[in-house]
Amino acid sequence: MSKLKGKVALVSGSGRGIGRAIALKLASEGAKVVVNDLDAAPGDAVVAEIKAAGGEAIAVNGSVTEAGFADRFVGAAIEHFGGLDIIINNAGYTWDTVIQKMGDEQWDAILDVHLKAPFRILRAAQPVISKAAKAEAARGLEIHRKVVNISSVAGLYGNAGQVNYSSAKAGIVGLTRTLAKEWGRYKVNVNAVAFGFIETRLTAASADGSATIDIEGRQIKVGVNPALLEMAKHMIPLGRPGTPDEAAGSVVMLTYPEADYVSGQVLVTGGGFES
Ligand SMILES: NC(=O)c1ccc[n+]([C@@H]2O[C@H](COP(=O)([O-])OP(=O)(O)OC[C@H]3O[C@@H](n4cnc5c(N)ncnc54)[C@H](O)[C@@H]3O)[C@@H](O)[C@H]2O)c1
Repeated sequence: MSKLKGKVALVSGSGRGIGRAIALKLASEGAKVVVNDLDAAPGDAVVAEIKAAGGEAIAVNGSVTEAGFADRFVGAAIEHFGGLDIIINNAGYTWDTVIQKMGDEQWDAILDVHLKAPFRILRAAQPVISKAAKAEAARGLEIHRKVVNISSVAGLYGNAGQVNYSSAKAGIVGLTRTLAKEWGRYKVNVNAVAFGFIETRLTAASADGSATIDIEGRQIKVGVNPALLEMAKHMIPLGRPGTPDEAAGSVVMLTYPEADYVSGQVLVTGGGFES
């Protein structure tokens, strides 16, 4: 299949989980992918996987929150692949606690990764997109570019213990809807996908609450109590959590030409679960 033949895509946080599945799916449709992950080994492994399948990819690893990262990420698409057509803001993690225990550092870290970093990446992409769109318009062409920002049902409806995360994921909805209005003139479709419960390391069962992930040397508790997970499954109309591949499908379909008239929307990918 080649719905995205020749398109150049940025996918942040694509070394694991949903981002990895998005990168692989975009590549399988012919897109050239700039992979990124905080951790270089999984980022490089996804590049190798795409190349082994006959696709094109490079890695720009490092934290999306680093100063200068956005220019490096956007610059790599232009230098290596000569353009920029698709931006998927996916990188992130959760760092949960109730409001009275949440310090400023915990609040800032989550707002930085889920909201400020996408803002910076999109801001860095603006001159490139505007220049390309103007040149295309001068030739009588209308070429659609696509942005998909990753949100969460926590951002739409709230989730106890996630005041930082749900605020950031709500913020990305405002960013999405505003940019859909600012960038319509460049023929950029800007949408968000809010996931429900998708099975990745962030949501894996953690019987004793000891599961952690390493974020720049800090061990952060993740995972969900198995009893809560069981209960959640009963609340999902489709009866189970989603897979990373299913999550990726709902993101990548918004990048297809079939979605050229869809913009400013938030798609909930939650198996029917909405609140
Ligand atoms: N899994 C779910 O149920 C669920 C639900 C709603 C939203 N989401 C969102 O989906 C996105 C992907 O999450 P996932 O479940 O695939 O998690 P994951 O941990 O499997 O993958 C996320 C990847 O992002 C990378 N990352 C984290 N911080 C980064 C940074 N500062 N810079 C670059 N890369 C960074 C991680 O190293 C990891 O490889 C996140 O934005 C998450 O908030 C997930």
